[in-house]
Amino acid sequence: MDRKPIPLISAPEIQKRVGQLARRISGDHPRGLVAIGILKGSYVFMADLLRRLSVPVLCDFLMVSSYRGTRSQGEVRLLLDLSLPIEGQDVVLVEDIIDTGLTLHFLKKMLLARRPRSLKVCCLLDKPSRREIPLGADYVGFAIADRFVVGYGIDHNERYRNLPYVAYLKVQP
Ligand code: IMP
Repeated sequence: MDRKPIPLISAPEIQKRVGQLARRISGDHPRGLVAIGILKGSYVFMADLLRRLSVPVLCDFLMVSSYRGTRSQGEVRLLLDLSLPIEGQDVVLVEDIIDTGLTLHFLKKMLLARRPRSLKVCCLLDKPSRREIPLGADYVGFAIADRFVVGYGIDHNERYRNLPYVAYLKVQP
Protein backbone atom coordinates (compact mmCIF):
# COMPACT_ATOMS: atom_id res chain seq x y z
CA MET A 1 0.00 0.00 0.00
CA ASP A 2 1.27 3.44 -0.94
CA ARG A 3 1.20 6.14 1.69
CA LYS A 4 1.35 9.74 0.59
CA PRO A 5 4.12 11.64 2.39
CA ILE A 6 2.99 14.94 3.90
CA PRO A 7 5.63 17.71 3.63
CA LEU A 8 7.10 18.79 6.99
CA ILE A 9 10.41 20.59 6.31
CA SER A 10 11.02 22.08 2.86
CA ALA A 11 14.21 21.71 0.82
CA PRO A 12 15.14 25.44 1.21
CA GLU A 13 14.60 25.26 4.99
CA ILE A 14 16.85 22.20 5.17
CA GLN A 15 19.56 23.88 3.10
CA LYS A 16 19.48 27.01 5.25
CA ARG A 17 19.83 24.97 8.44
CA VAL A 18 22.59 22.76 6.95
CA GLY A 19 24.58 25.92 6.18
CA GLN A 20 24.19 27.12 9.78
CA LEU A 21 25.25 23.74 11.17
CA ALA A 22 28.27 23.61 8.85
CA ARG A 23 29.40 27.06 9.99
CA ARG A 24 29.14 26.06 13.67
CA ILE A 25 30.91 22.75 13.14
CA SER A 26 33.69 24.42 11.13
CA GLY A 27 34.10 27.09 13.82
CA ASP A 28 34.37 24.43 16.55
CA HIS A 29 36.90 22.32 14.58
CA PRO A 30 39.48 24.73 13.12
CA ARG A 31 42.04 21.89 12.68
CA GLY A 32 39.56 19.81 10.71
CA LEU A 33 37.64 16.65 11.55
CA VAL A 34 36.67 13.12 10.67
CA ALA A 35 32.98 12.97 9.76
CA ILE A 36 31.28 9.60 10.26
CA GLY A 37 27.94 9.15 8.53
CA ILE A 38 25.54 6.49 9.79
CA LEU A 39 24.17 4.55 6.83
CA LYS A 40 21.85 4.61 5.25
CA GLY A 41 19.71 7.42 6.63
CA SER A 42 22.41 10.10 6.86
CA TYR A 43 23.84 9.85 3.33
CA VAL A 44 22.04 12.87 1.84
CA PHE A 45 22.55 15.04 4.94
CA MET A 46 26.21 13.99 5.08
CA ALA A 47 26.80 14.94 1.44
CA ASP A 48 25.22 18.38 1.84
CA LEU A 49 26.81 19.09 5.24
CA LEU A 50 30.35 18.12 4.21
CA ARG A 51 30.21 20.27 1.09
CA ARG A 52 29.44 23.28 3.29
CA LEU A 53 32.31 22.75 5.79
CA SER A 54 35.17 25.24 5.51
CA VAL A 55 37.78 23.06 7.31
CA PRO A 56 39.63 19.90 6.16
CA VAL A 57 37.44 16.82 6.50
CA LEU A 58 37.90 13.07 6.18
CA CYS A 59 34.76 11.12 5.41
CA ASP A 60 33.84 7.66 6.62
CA PHE A 61 30.70 5.60 7.19
CA LEU A 62 29.25 3.06 9.58
CA MET A 63 26.15 1.00 9.05
CA VAL A 64 23.93 -0.18 11.85
CA SER A 65 20.76 -2.22 11.81
CA SER A 66 17.77 -0.01 11.28
CA TYR A 67 14.06 -0.02 11.93
CA ARG A 68 11.72 -2.47 10.33
CA GLY A 69 8.30 -0.87 9.99
CA THR A 70 7.70 2.28 11.97
CA ARG A 71 8.95 1.37 15.46
CA SER A 72 12.34 0.48 16.91
CA GLN A 73 13.06 -3.18 17.56
CA GLY A 74 15.13 -2.07 20.55
CA GLU A 75 18.32 -3.73 19.36
CA VAL A 76 21.31 -2.21 17.53
CA ARG A 77 23.82 -4.23 15.50
CA LEU A 78 26.93 -3.08 13.62
CA LEU A 79 26.64 -4.07 9.95
CA LEU A 80 29.63 -2.13 8.51
CA ASP A 81 32.62 -0.77 10.38
CA LEU A 82 34.83 2.27 9.68
CA SER A 83 37.64 2.13 7.14
CA LEU A 84 39.70 4.80 8.98
CA PRO A 85 41.31 4.75 12.45
CA ILE A 86 39.95 7.54 14.67
CA GLU A 87 42.39 7.45 17.60
CA GLY A 88 43.48 11.01 18.42
CA GLN A 89 41.08 12.51 15.85
CA ASP A 90 38.32 15.08 16.27
CA VAL A 91 35.26 13.14 15.20
CA VAL A 92 31.76 14.28 14.30
CA LEU A 93 29.11 11.59 14.07
CA VAL A 94 26.43 12.48 11.51
CA GLU A 95 23.02 10.94 12.23
CA ASP A 96 19.70 11.32 10.45
CA ILE A 97 17.41 11.09 13.51
CA ILE A 98 17.78 10.63 17.23
CA ASP A 99 14.65 8.90 18.45
CA THR A 100 14.92 6.63 21.53
CA GLY A 101 18.69 7.29 21.77
CA LEU A 102 19.54 3.56 21.65
CA THR A 103 21.54 3.81 18.42
CA LEU A 104 23.48 6.83 19.62
CA HIS A 105 24.23 5.15 22.94
CA PHE A 106 25.60 2.09 21.14
CA LEU A 107 27.66 4.15 18.68
CA LYS A 108 29.11 6.53 21.27
CA LYS A 109 30.26 3.65 23.46
CA MET A 110 31.87 1.89 20.49
CA LEU A 111 33.60 4.99 19.14
CA LEU A 112 34.82 6.33 22.49
CA ALA A 113 36.57 2.97 23.07
CA ARG A 114 38.74 3.86 20.04
CA ARG A 115 40.03 6.97 21.86
CA PRO A 116 39.23 9.88 19.53
CA ARG A 117 40.48 13.29 20.76
CA SER A 118 36.90 14.51 20.71
CA LEU A 119 33.54 13.11 19.67
CA LYS A 120 30.61 15.34 18.78
CA VAL A 121 27.22 14.36 17.41
CA CYS A 122 25.30 16.14 14.68
CA CYS A 123 21.76 15.05 13.81
CA LEU A 124 19.36 16.43 11.25
CA LEU A 125 16.24 15.59 13.26
CA ASP A 126 15.65 15.10 16.97
CA LYS A 127 12.53 13.57 18.53
CA PRO A 128 13.10 14.43 22.21
CA SER A 129 9.69 13.12 23.35
CA ARG A 130 10.67 9.56 22.33
CA ARG A 131 13.91 9.41 24.28
CA GLU A 132 14.58 6.28 26.38
CA ILE A 133 18.26 7.01 27.03
CA PRO A 134 19.03 10.61 28.10
CA LEU A 135 21.49 11.45 25.33
CA GLY A 136 21.45 14.42 22.99
CA ALA A 137 23.32 15.79 19.99
CA ASP A 138 25.78 18.69 20.04
CA TYR A 139 24.37 20.01 16.75
CA VAL A 140 20.66 19.57 15.97
CA GLY A 141 19.02 20.53 12.70
CA PHE A 142 15.36 20.43 13.74
CA ALA A 143 13.55 19.18 16.84
CA ILE A 144 10.31 17.51 15.72
CA ALA A 145 7.26 15.89 17.31
CA ASP A 146 6.72 12.13 17.47
CA ARG A 147 5.98 11.51 13.82
CA PHE A 148 7.31 8.91 11.44
CA VAL A 149 9.34 10.92 8.93
CA VAL A 150 10.80 10.10 5.53
CA GLY A 151 12.74 11.87 2.78
CA TYR A 152 16.14 13.56 2.49
CA GLY A 153 17.82 10.15 2.94
CA ILE A 154 15.32 8.79 5.47
CA ASP A 155 13.20 5.79 4.53
CA HIS A 156 10.20 3.67 5.29
CA ASN A 157 11.02 0.12 4.14
CA GLU A 158 13.71 1.62 1.82
CA ARG A 159 11.26 3.98 0.12
CA TYR A 160 11.17 7.79 -0.01
CA ARG A 161 14.92 8.35 0.57
CA ASN A 162 15.09 10.38 -2.64
CA LEU A 163 12.53 13.01 -1.63
CA PRO A 164 14.37 16.36 -1.51
CA TYR A 165 12.39 17.43 1.59
CA VAL A 166 11.38 15.85 4.92
CA ALA A 167 7.81 14.56 5.11
CA TYR A 168 5.80 12.43 7.49
CA LEU A 169 3.61 9.39 6.97
CA LYS A 170 0.24 9.08 8.61
CA VAL A 171 0.09 5.99 10.81
CA GLN A 172 -2.58 3.65 9.45
CA PRO A 173 -5.53 2.95 11.76
P1 IMP B 1 16.96 5.42 17.95
O1 IMP B 1 17.97 4.34 18.18
O2 IMP B 1 15.60 5.02 18.47
O3 IMP B 1 17.40 6.77 18.43
O4 IMP B 1 16.72 5.48 16.41
C1 IMP B 1 17.60 5.99 15.52
C2 IMP B 1 17.34 5.47 14.13
O5 IMP B 1 16.00 4.99 13.93
C3 IMP B 1 17.52 6.57 13.12
O6 IMP B 1 18.87 6.70 12.77
C4 IMP B 1 16.63 6.09 11.99
O7 IMP B 1 17.34 5.22 11.14
C5 IMP B 1 15.52 5.34 12.67
N1 IMP B 1 14.33 6.20 12.83
C6 IMP B 1 13.89 6.81 13.94
N2 IMP B 1 12.78 7.53 13.72
C7 IMP B 1 12.51 7.37 12.40
C8 IMP B 1 11.51 7.92 11.52
O8 IMP B 1 10.63 8.70 11.91
N3 IMP B 1 11.59 7.55 10.21
C9 IMP B 1 12.55 6.71 9.73
N4 IMP B 1 13.52 6.21 10.51
C10 IMP B 1 13.51 6.53 11.83
